Amino acid sequence: MSLILAIESSCDETSAAVVDSTKGVISNIISSQYFHKHYGGVVPELASRAHIKYISQITTQSLNNAGITIKDIDALAVTSEPGLIGSLIVGANFTKGLAIRYQLPLYPINHIEGHIFSGILENQSIEFPFISLVVSGGHTVLFKVNSFTSYDVLGSTIDDAAGEAFDKIAKMLGLQYPGGPVIDKLAKSGNAEAYNFPRSMMHSGDYNFSFSGLKTSVKYFLAKNFALGIQEQELSNLAASIQESIVDVLCSKSLRASIEYGVRDIVIAGGVSANSRLRAKMEFELIQHWKKFYAPKLEYCMDNAAMIGFIAAKKHEQEIESGKKNFTLPNLRFKVSANSLRTRIIK
Ligand code: KG4
Ligand code: ZN
Repeated sequence: MSLILAIESSCDETSAAVVDSTKGVISNIISSQYFHKHYGGVVPELASRAHIKYISQITTQSLNNAGITIKDIDALAVTSEPGLIGSLIVGANFTKGLAIRYQLPLYPINHIEGHIFSGILENQSIEFPFISLVVSGGHTVLFKVNSFTSYDVLGSTIDDAAGEAFDKIAKMLGLQYPGGPVIDKLAKSGNAEAYNFPRSMMHSGDYNFSFSGLKTSVKYFLAKNFALGIQEQELSNLAASIQESIVDVLCSKSLRASIEYGVRDIVIAGGVSANSRLRAKMEFELIQHWKKFYAPKLEYCMDNAAMIGFIAAKKHEQEIESGKKNFTLPNLRFKVSANSLRTRIIK
């Protein structure tokens, strides 16, 4: 049995978790930076500064909630990529400091790898291989997961991520950032068949996605039909119709992948996996095909350190089993990609 302290700070959530390799998640504290909504998106510089301000107290709170101190910890984990570069550096340097001070092994963990397994943190009866759909503000990727260490990318978005589409379209509708939860709520009182928006690439024959066409289509539709404003019921109808077109594509490709690869279990993860219509439609469609559907509880849909600690716990147990005793501090190198430099302000 090992206890892992994990830190996640890749975007606008500062999170710390304690994960027990046998019992699972013991504590998971998430502090969300709600102030970004005033800017219409995540401002990287402000995000980094808020991480600096809260990371220490969130970590202490996580250890306190677990009823332990740092001296009980066997290994550390931190999100190393992808993400906003300044935000990642805060988490990485903080965790590196702890590793040096307390002489603990440190596991750099890929954020998407964390999301892949976040749907099974509480439900480990899942069967390998399974299909994992990671849908967030920055990513839309479909994986076939063969084991805790092996996965194939079946497809991904060729332009906007699904969450990005929700956020950008919400902005066009005059709604607040982040747009996904607002559209989800409005859609509940709307008619999803009121308008027919494109389901891009739904029948493309591969597992890639595209959401920028939907964004453009909504833009022109609003300019043509709602130039003078949108009334309340129409706003709900638009929200429901737009949401349905995104959800249809996500469901259809996930189901097709599970059929083509003969896989029983399908997991969704990432911020968009909180979408109530996506969860309901997946459940409904998959049951018809004798498939099993898993979705994380809401705390694990958003960015969280529990998913990072979960992967690190698996890696640490494997290394202990293989007889590894001496751990050296990893060289956390950051790939400065276009994505990590992206300012997530929705224009
Ligand atoms: O995984 P996440 O917290 O951060 C990233 O790594 O991006 O995902 C945030 C994204 C945002 O685009 C947000 O609008 C979307 O998840 N989101 C939702 C819902 N809740 C959050 N999208 C649709 N429906 C929701 N209920
Ligand atoms: Zn994420």
